[in-house]
Order: sequence, then C-alpha cells, then structure tokens
Amino acid sequence: MRNIDEHNITAAVQARLDACPNPRLKEIVSALVQHLHDFVREVRLTEDEWMRGIEFLTATGRMCDDKRQEFILLSDTLGVSMLTVALNQSRPPGATEATVFGPFHVDDAPRVDAGADLAGGAPGETLFAEIEVVDPDGNAIAGAEVDVWQADEEGLYDVQRPELGDQRRARGVLVTDARGRTHFRSIVPTAYPVPTDGPVGKMLVATGRHPWRPAHVHFLVRAPGYRTLITHLFRDPDPYLDSDVVFGVRSSLIGRFEHHDRGPLADGPYTTLRHRFVLAPELPEGA
Ligand code: BEZ
Ligand code: FE
Repeated sequence: MRNIDEHNITAAVQARLDACPNPRLKEIVSALVQHLHDFVREVRLTEDEWMRGIEFLTATGRMCDDKRQEFILLSDTLGVSMLTVALNQSRPPGATEATVFGPFHVDDAPRVDAGADLAGGAPGETLFAEIEVVDPDGNAIAGAEVDVWQADEEGLYDVQRPELGDQRRARGVLVTDARGRTHFRSIVPTAYPVPTDGPVGKMLVATGRHPWRPAHVHFLVRAPGYRTLITHLFRDPDPYLDSDVVFGVRSSLIGRFEHHDRGPLADGPYTTLRHRFVLAPELPEGA
C-alpha cells in the first residue's frame, strides 16, 4: 500500500498483523494501534510534542533498575494499574477487595512467628494488629501466609533507605494458626508521597497533581485453594483518602485503626488494628 494518509494508515498497520500466529497478541496490538492513532488524531499531536513524549518515555526507562520501576509508577499514576486490578479482580460478595501492588514488596521478607515486632527499629507509634483469614462462609483458613509491608513514620520503605543496605524492616511474613488468626506488632503508617525525583514526578508537577498516598499497610494473603489477595488497609482520617495519587482507595479497605492514649498493651500511646480478610476460592481451570 502506498500514498498512506491520516485516514487509512490505521487500517494499513493493522493489516500487517494478518499473519500474527497468536490471536490474543494480534487483538492487543491491533487495539493498541487503533487507540494510539485515534489519540494522535484527536489531539492533533505536533512533531515537537511527539519528540517530548519520546524523551519522557526514554527518561522513564533510564530511571528503572532492580529497585526502582518508573514505568509501574507511571502506570499507577495514570490509573492503568488500578483499572487492570478492577477488571481482573472481581470476587464473590463478601470477599476482600484488592488494590494496587506497588513497587515496594520484596520476596525475601523475614518469616516471623505470631506476635513478632515487624518494625525492626523503624520510627513510629506502636501498632498492634490482629488478623484473621477466612473463606466466604466465615470458616477459618489455617496456614495462610500473611505478607505485610509498610512505610515508616517518615513515609519511607526500608528499600528507599540506602543506609539500611539489605536490612529489612517494617515488613514480615506470618502464617495463620488453626483458628485462621495471627497477630503482630509494627508501627502506625503515615501518608507519604510516591517517588518524585524522576520523570513521573515532573509529570505530576506539570499537570498540577500532588504525589501523596493516604496512610496504609500492604498485605499479600495466600493459601492453597484460594485466590491470592493483594491489598492494603487504609487509616482514617487521612487528608488523601479521596485523592490517592494511584487511585487505590476502596471504602471496604478502611481499617479499624484505634488510637489509645494509654492501655495494657504498652507503656505509652499505641494504636490497635483488627481485620478479617476473606479469601475467594480459586477459579476453576480456564475460567
Ligand atoms: C505503594 O503503596 O507502596 C505504592 C503504590 C504505587 C506507587 C508507589 C507506591
Ligand atoms: Fe505503600
């Protein structure tokens, strides 16, 4: 095909996919071409703007390494991550809702016994958390793995503190007992900004957006025969619950964080959190 113009170029590119042997890949690339072309036509993208976009994506790629994933941050801040979660995580009524994974999970968090102090020296008010894991009928799930991670009082994860090296803190993996329960001690989470020292930070400034996430603790809960749950518990009140920079807040995920000026659990003030996670059964093969 010759003499391609702004009207027929989309069909011309899509026709080159005719021999694609993978039908799902063909569907995805074809739709991507359609939407990209429609976007360029809709905003009447100039060549200068196209170049700015290329430079932005190049800088995003250069910012990535094994500790920093700027493309995921871009996806998160444009709502693409949460849209993907919403599309893929429909669960039976009553099952706990999922939210964004975020970039700060590590695979080698310490495995700890119930009652452990996960803080490991991280600064913050003491948090006592009691967790229960059940199925949609309320039956206890024994042996479920509860992987917890969170930022400290200064809004930083351990992996964001170069001075800690490979030392892990404010994270840990617990296992539920025969009653589906476990408990741990940690610190009260605070709101924090997503990393803003890269191109995504520049994009947020340029578009008049704030970089804040409301205070939360991350949980990854898994058990054989159940769908793995990746979620958070958010603390209320928090000024960013309605404007989370990554669109991850769901009302059902507001945790019962209760502050105590004094009480039997510690010498000074502390906060308690009790939560029941409801896991959905695994989907049958091919569903
Ligand atoms: C987080 O909650 O850890 C997070 C999620 C998305 C982007 C940045 C951080
Ligand atoms: Fe987080």
